[in-house]
Amino acid sequence: MPFFYNYKTILMFDFDKPINRLGTSSFKYEFREKYFKNPDVIPLWVADMDFASPPAISEAIKERIEHPVFGYTVRNSSFNTSIKNWLYTKHSWDIETSWLEFSPGVVSGLSMAVLAYTKPGDGIIIQPPVYPPFFSVVKDNDRNAMHNPLILDNGKYIINFEELEQLASKPENKMLILCSPHNPIGRLWSEEELVKLGEICIANDVLVISDEIHSDLAIFGNKHTPFASISESFANNSVTFMAPSKTFNIAGFSTSYIICKNRELRTKYRRILHSLHLYTGHLLGGVVLEAAYDHGAEWLDELILYLEGNIKFVEEFISIRLPWITLTKPEATYLLWLDFRKTGWDQDTITSFLAKDANVGLNNGTLFGEEGRGFMRMNIGSPRSVLHAALINMEKAFVKSNLNR
Ligand SMILES: Cc1ncc(COP(=O)(O)O)c(C=O)c1O
Repeated sequence: MPFFYNYKTILMFDFDKPINRLGTSSFKYEFREKYFKNPDVIPLWVADMDFASPPAISEAIKERIEHPVFGYTVRNSSFNTSIKNWLYTKHSWDIETSWLEFSPGVVSGLSMAVLAYTKPGDGIIIQPPVYPPFFSVVKDNDRNAMHNPLILDNGKYIINFEELEQLASKPENKMLILCSPHNPIGRLWSEEELVKLGEICIANDVLVISDEIHSDLAIFGNKHTPFASISESFANNSVTFMAPSKTFNIAGFSTSYIICKNRELRTKYRRILHSLHLYTGHLLGGVVLEAAYDHGAEWLDELILYLEGNIKFVEEFISIRLPWITLTKPEATYLLWLDFRKTGWDQDTITSFLAKDANVGLNNGTLFGEEGRGFMRMNIGSPRSVLHAALINMEKAFVKSNLNR
């Protein structure tokens, strides 16, 4: 059957160009041997992209490093202004700069929130399958992870509100960590869903920590709603985490932030941030955030088009040539959640098939919770030719495996 490679759009930025990342200490590339026991897998795992960041970011870095003194750094007030402007233009969210506080990373920030707002032994609600550190920031701080698994309903993941209500009503459960949009299943929660979740949490005195790191990566016309922007009461019962790191592919600069209207919650967070002495941050963090937010919008528009093309490409390839896999089409992010359950294979067989037989490196679904059994996560933030090579490898390996179609 002919296969059409027809999603090319004329773009100003060249996302098709392969960039050699070997020798750059890239986690995604250098850790392949350790993680997959195969140093040559096509790496479609760790959630960063293989694309060059917007040129304005490299230019801003070059300008700063021309000055040869690299001492302790403070962020200028323009740091907060860039964030405020970005949130307003991108998400129609009008915040005050006084609501902002720095975090060196979203995950370290989530851990600080756990320390700031809960005690050892408290319950924290999470919604698997979900980004693996959601389990560890709870468990490693001696709190209890209370699982409210998402339901896969006719190919779409939805929240189990009935069970959420039961969990929230238990006095020992103090917090919910929301993933919005949700990694790995790519759901972008509707305002209606967020309202329902937020009302349950307020009624039961459960604080919402909203990880919105993927919020700028809404695709196919979907629009992200910041949880705290919905109402005054939601803003007062939540702390939001955001960052330019996923959006502009600058995760190596360890720069993110919280938005928190509630002064008491902000003060508690700040106390932990200061006690750990983590408030100064990376010398180039402010430089890259400002360059990205002030000058990166055009690049991001094109990135979204390219990612949408990649998703359509993978979707078409799977539907025509990989009938053993089912794709849950995402509403946000460059991460695809692939269902391998039709193969009938157990998780070890799926992972070794991909890493050894197909030479492709995907994330193991069970890392996202037991609900991820039979699934794998694929990062499509790479040139289309790389995805093409990976899919061809998978097809050849499937054909060789003699699995019935
Ligand atoms: C939902 C979510 N939160 C946080 C992170 C990582 O954030 P950071 O690198 O700022 O700790 C990721 C990375 O994939 C993610 O998917």
